[in-house]
Amino acid sequence: MIAIGCDHGGFLLKKTIINYLDQKNLQYLDFGTDDMEKTVDYPKYAYLVAKAVSEGKCEKGILCCGTGIGVSIAANKISGIRAAVCQDEFSAEMSRKHNDANILCLGGRIIDENKAMLLSDIFLNTPFDGGRHYRRILQIEQIEKGNFKV
Ligand code: RB5
Repeated sequence: MIAIGCDHGGFLLKKTIINYLDQKNLQYLDFGTDDMEKTVDYPKYAYLVAKAVSEGKCEKGILCCGTGIGVSIAANKISGIRAAVCQDEFSAEMSRKHNDANILCLGGRIIDENKAMLLSDIFLNTPFDGGRHYRRILQIEQIEKGNFKV
């Protein structure tokens, strides 16, 4: 199950990604927003998607806003969330291989619809490399829990 959400700035990208998920027969939960006419505040949608992933209701999430930055900052405040803003294929691949990112953040004012589908595809289909990268994920968790030793 994939959690998906956006603000008005990411609405068109979210629609495109939902079409892509439908084509691939992938299940998703859409946390809104539901149009691009009304200006909304992105933290709400980032929070809903991040909570769904953090609580295990969804394995991964995709968030879209104008730049991808606001939703990533908000989502990364939730425990266990590793949200990555990606604008290119290499970043999307590395966000999974090295960072085990569990939320992909995209900017509707930065990338086009084809790029959004491509990056979503890479994000959803690239496994985590583990190994030394896992050690670093554990260190991030220690920072989150306040028990990281330098
Ligand atoms: C909304 O205008 C815009 O600030 C938002 O979509 C996002 O880009 C914030 O990071």
